[in-house]
Amino acid sequence: MLWKVTEKDQLVKMLSVSSNEKQNSLAKEADSVRKRFVGDKIYFRGIIEFSNICEKDCLYCGIRKSNSNVTRFMMTEQDIMKCARWAFANGYGSIVLQSGESTSPAFLDFLIKVVQDIKKETGRTDPRGNGLGITLCVGEQKKKTYEEFFQAGAHRYLLRIETSNPELYKQLHPPECSFGNRVRCLEHLREIGYQVGTGVMIGLPGQTIEDLVDDIFFYKDIDADMIGMGPYIPHAETPLSVYAGKWNARRDELLRLSLRMVAATRLLLKDVNIAATTAMQVLHPRGREIAFEYGANIIMPILTPTRFRKDYSLYDGKPCIDENAKQCKECIAERIRSIGRNVGWNDFGDSPHFHTRVGK
Ligand code: 5AD
Repeated sequence: MLWKVTEKDQLVKMLSVSSNEKQNSLAKEADSVRKRFVGDKIYFRGIIEFSNICEKDCLYCGIRKSNSNVTRFMMTEQDIMKCARWAFANGYGSIVLQSGESTSPAFLDFLIKVVQDIKKETGRTDPRGNGLGITLCVGEQKKKTYEEFFQAGAHRYLLRIETSNPELYKQLHPPECSFGNRVRCLEHLREIGYQVGTGVMIGLPGQTIEDLVDDIFFYKDIDADMIGMGPYIPHAETPLSVYAGKWNARRDELLRLSLRMVAATRLLLKDVNIAATTAMQVLHPRGREIAFEYGANIIMPILTPTRFRKDYSLYDGKPCIDENAKQCKECIAERIRSIGRNVGWNDFGDSPHFHTRVGK
């Protein structure tokens, strides 16, 4: 083992690599750890971005509340069911329901019903009786709400910490957002029994290599089962886009750094699921496939109906906005074949870490 990753300064070194040779050796080691701990299959989580209505005003996000150029939408239950049915029929083991953040009772009741209905319908026709796996990604909610979602049938939850540096977190979020509450939410999700996913944005203005190392230790400390992280990408209609010029000059290095983050996370956490995120593809047409060679084992093909995709732009240059679910499936399956890996069809593809930690 060339790379040891138990100490902070070793991780700093790893994330600071600049030669191609060292970058490639990092990929190779992460790839072999990935193979040993989570195997060769890549699992699909079809993502349905069902609403862009958001109560929050995060300084980096294109669908922030105060962006009045966004046409707000909320999919109907029928539309969501159609996507879920399609995913199930096409062998996707699970889906992600993601939206802007809302705590309105009508929104929460709607989502609970949608989760129940998807589980009911897909569970009936599934020979294994499990139905479609459901991951939720709808932000910070009360513990009671998380419990209700869980009882309705959701078994995983994604809530990125965005950055584990509380000071930087404060700079990127409006005053009403609290880092402490975000951490508390992650703890609640874990206590309830969810498979818990978190992650950060890489290359945020003001973020240091030390911050990124702390992010990886944060994942370890909260004992995350799933990690989804990607490069920060400016959105022109957000306050943080004032740094876009600087950002542009660093695009290539940002891709390499994001890949090193994936590799370092794989080396330290070993048996978790790690997503090759869509944002990686903004920096390179093969960004997601490359991430699979640095330790990633999950992909989230977009299921959102084409007519809504452009209104769910968290950042500029989001790929696949003119495509439909079938095209995304075929394109991604082909990309996976091209790197000699297989898709884990009709399978939840849980993170082995979750089963180890709950003793199943
Ligand atoms: N660039 C990259 N990722 C972003 N997200 C939001 N805005 C951006 C951006 N400008 C990510 C956040 C959030 C997830 C749903 O999308 O990390 O948790």
